[in-house]
Amino acid sequence: MKRPNGNGESTLMHEVVLVVDDEAVIRQLLRVKLSREGYNCQEADNAEKALSVLQSGPIALVVLDVRMPGKSGIELLPEIKSGFPDTAVIMATAVNDINVAVQCLKQGADDYICKPFNLEAVLLAIERALEKRHLKLELREYQQFLEEKVEQQMIEMRKLFLGAMEALVSALEAKDRYTGGHSRRVADIALALGNELGLSAHDMEALRWGSLLHDVGKIAVQEAIQNKPGSLTPEEYEHVMTHAHVGAHIVQPVVNGKIVEIIEHHHDHYDGTGLHQVVAGDDIPLGARIVAIADAFDAMTSDRSYRPAMSIAEAVEEIKRYAGTQFDPVIVAAFLKSRVSETAQAAEPL
Ligand SMILES: [Fe+2]
Repeated sequence: MKRPNGNGESTLMHEVVLVVDDEAVIRQLLRVKLSREGYNCQEADNAEKALSVLQSGPIALVVLDVRMPGKSGIELLPEIKSGFPDTAVIMATAVNDINVAVQCLKQGADDYICKPFNLEAVLLAIERALEKRHLKLELREYQQFLEEKVEQQMIEMRKLFLGAMEALVSALEAKDRYTGGHSRRVADIALALGNELGLSAHDMEALRWGSLLHDVGKIAVQEAIQNKPGSLTPEEYEHVMTHAHVGAHIVQPVVNGKIVEIIEHHHDHYDGTGLHQVVAGDDIPLGARIVAIADAFDAMTSDRSYRPAMSIAEAVEEIKRYAGTQFDPVIVAAFLKSRVSETAQAAEPL
């Protein structure tokens, strides 16, 4: 049954129906009847022409003759189903071809009608197939809508989570008079290096969050050790260095893998000599190799409880000295070309 729209017209009217049959009389019979019923009826007398009509614009339904000279309807059916999955297909078959019709249903046809046609039965089959097609399209649209909604909510949730994590890092840093603003400065330097290296927008976003949150795991480091004025014992050092793994574990359920990798590996040494390191060289995620330099540079140029800040020029020299051992030499070269290093060169005479 046709569903009336707000204007009292059927929503199925004006749908394009393609009749594929080698017999001109059959095509004409169906065209006249379907046009009277408000359908936009097109015709093709063989499989090639049918495909050409299908390619020229959306066809809601095909009435497809099973037996045609050249490519038969049975051969054309899978091509229509794979190339035009939103098009419904009704097979037209002789009464003694019922087994073939059943075979066609198994291959994806929506229905079959028997020759000679009872035109009212044909109309009913077309309406039924179009209704089914409409429901299928509406369901898919609704699923897409729901998926977009869920995706949108995930984005909002991630934003809230990252914002909360950033606030946590700021709070941690604010408790320590030596590290206030460290992560923000590391992010600025890391992004300048990412820019120099031509990172994609997606990688830059991961780098921004990875550098802002690289030390979030310090929430698990004992304050007495964190603020110890002298150098750390090997055990204390090992305890402090767990922050990379702890931080990655904290953010892992919500953020994308690249952010997690940056946090997990930001203390890895390029030559593989870092504490409990499992990867080395270019196997260390690129973002982590960038943050390693940004982190070290900001740490060296800031006062710490156990030493005063180095000058920018001295810190640049340290970065250069450890190219190829602690740091990726390619990123050190990018660092030396970046504005951070320009600032350092301007500061060198001082
Ligand atoms: Fe760290």
